Amino acid sequence: MKDKARTEGPPSMMETVLIAVIAACAMFITVREASGQTPERSGKQVVEQVCGTCHASGARGAPKIGDKRAWAKREAEGLTALTQTALKGIRQMPPHGANFKLTDTEIKRGITYMVNESGGHWVEPISKTNPPGARTGEQIVAARCVTCHGKGVNGAPRIGDRDAWISRVKQGLDVVVRSAINGHGAMPPRGGMADLTDAELRSAVIYMFSKSNAPIK
Ligand code: HEC
Ligand code: HEC
Repeated sequence: MKDKARTEGPPSMMETVLIAVIAACAMFITVREASGQTPERSGKQVVEQVCGTCHASGARGAPKIGDKRAWAKREAEGLTALTQTALKGIRQMPPHGANFKLTDTEIKRGITYMVNESGGHWVEPISKTNPPGARTGEQIVAARCVTCHGKGVNGAPRIGDRDAWISRVKQGLDVVVRSAINGHGAMPPRGGMADLTDAELRSAVIYMFSKSNAPIK
């Protein structure tokens, strides 16, 4: 209403181009948002929906979830090697678990979940194409971890206390993240946020390290 000339007259060439550009941008954003709405599944979901068909019962000779002996020697091969095998298939194990919609990250998460349910201590990998978690490390820490880690309640390593964190980081990032997942002493499992994914927890830990200027291994 303010700019009568512009709204009433036919759109100029410049305006037409501008509208096209804006429409294209909006479409791009919509596509991105749509892809964001179907984040990659967690290991648990992948196993419940796909791998469990055989691995829950041990059908066809699949290593059964929970069978520590069956999984221990596979765990020793490491995630990269197991993922290669799962992608290619082996004997009665179909390539991709016979579901080609699964991304490599989802396969890795499925394997990690089965290994962990069978006595392993792995951390679910973060998605490269579709970073998980609406929540960033900073948001998680502000929402929860800071209640203890802000001041160092009950011996919690305090955010900003470089020395306190360095002695933890020495163990390696995965070990520390796993320990935060399980909880120990006055540290509740997942810091008391049961719905945090492994990846979200990892970003929260990294955030606290970085705020304390501690080097990450
Ligand atoms: C149709 C049945 C079936 C489905 C579905 C299935 N698996 Fe398997 N899987 C098997 C069998 C059988 C084996 C044992 C193969 C062998 O060693 O002979 C196996 C073995 C494996 C191994 C061990 C490979 C090794 O090197 O020893 C991994 C890892 C694995 N499966 C991952 C998965 C994942 C991840 C999924 C889901 C995405 C999945 N499987 C779905 C049947 C299945
Ligand atoms: C109720 C208090 C409390 C909350 C909430 C809490 N922590 Fe902790 N945290 C602790 C305490 C206490 C320790 C030290 C435990 C020990 O070493 O015995 C600790 C230790 C840790 C460690 C070091 C583990 C290790 O092996 O050295 C990490 C990492 C950690 N917390 C991450 C988190 C994250 C991430 C959150 C938020 C999601 C969180 N914590 C929330 C109390 C808490």
